[in-house]
Amino acid sequence: MKVAFVGFGGVGQALAEILHEKKEILIKQYGLDTKVVAVSDLMKGAVYDPDGLDIPSLLNVVRNEGRVDAYPNAKEYGFSSLETIEKTNADLIVEVTFTDVQTGQPAIDHCEAAFKNGKSVVTTNKGPVALKLDELQSLADSHNCFFGFEGTVMSGTPALRLPKTTLMGNDIYEVVGILNGTTNYILTEMELGLSFDQALEQAQEFGYAEANPTSDIEGYDVRYKTAILSHYVMGEKISALDIPCEGIANLNGDMIQSALEEDKSWKLLARIRKTDDGIDARVAPEKIDANHPLAGVKGATNAILYECDLSGPIMLTGAGAGLKETGFSLLIDMIHAHQVYQKNSSIVR
Ligand code: HSE
Repeated sequence: MKVAFVGFGGVGQALAEILHEKKEILIKQYGLDTKVVAVSDLMKGAVYDPDGLDIPSLLNVVRNEGRVDAYPNAKEYGFSSLETIEKTNADLIVEVTFTDVQTGQPAIDHCEAAFKNGKSVVTTNKGPVALKLDELQSLADSHNCFFGFEGTVMSGTPALRLPKTTLMGNDIYEVVGILNGTTNYILTEMELGLSFDQALEQAQEFGYAEANPTSDIEGYDVRYKTAILSHYVMGEKISALDIPCEGIANLNGDMIQSALEEDKSWKLLARIRKTDDGIDARVAPEKIDANHPLAGVKGATNAILYECDLSGPIMLTGAGAGLKETGFSLLIDMIHAHQVYQKNSSIVR
């Protein structure tokens, strides 16, 4: 599997590191032999070598010089992201450019160009999935390509694939989740006495927050994840903008402390429920009892509760952000892509 990175920030670099560290295991365990052939990043330049780039040297130049085009003796430098998708010999594009959930661009263009050129895509970018999942999936299907986006919800904790594969046969009639690490971290730290601003600053330092943390604080990040879950897991397409959404900006220290005194906790929850007319989805802070399964989920950890008709409630909890964890979500998709090609089947999608 020849891989090209479009975007090469922390998540892309984490995946490159994982591919290097796990190279032999991936070959032995899954028969998946990966080679990174190209990287293109708006700020860090571009490098391409059809025979493969040496990952330690690549990471070395990007970390020490802040540029990928400082990589020595490659075949080609300076390809744009579209040239990287169209002109390189990559089979699979790792799309990890910044997320713009308003337009989904430039990621949507990247996905379309990849599929039209017969190349698969794995991405953690919520924009294309929240805004254009059906169109992109049919384009991928018609070009016999794989489209993987496990990391768009709860990073490497398999919130999408678990209900689609392991919980098959259930009617999942409600999903409730803590889907944003930054806000859960802030609420947890405020319970421990920190101010909102101090807690946000820490969440930014740890790299949980979006480039613009308004998206976390106002609940927009969760709203897009809710749209993805509703469409992909519950089968009801809903526009993110139609989901009522309130973030945590109106919660203050006093409210959080008095909730604790009542043996309750404030959590920013996504709720999606099937109704007779379709779906009811919303994002809002809720004060839940200490014995609610989601109340004990603290810090940047995420959790999701699937209410299922046959198995009963199933809860999945784990990291919802983090470089290695999100890099891992792309690896899950790559392994699935490989298995799909091998079996020539779409069953594991
Ligand atoms: N800013 C997001 C969070 C990152 O805090 O959960 C993952 O989408």
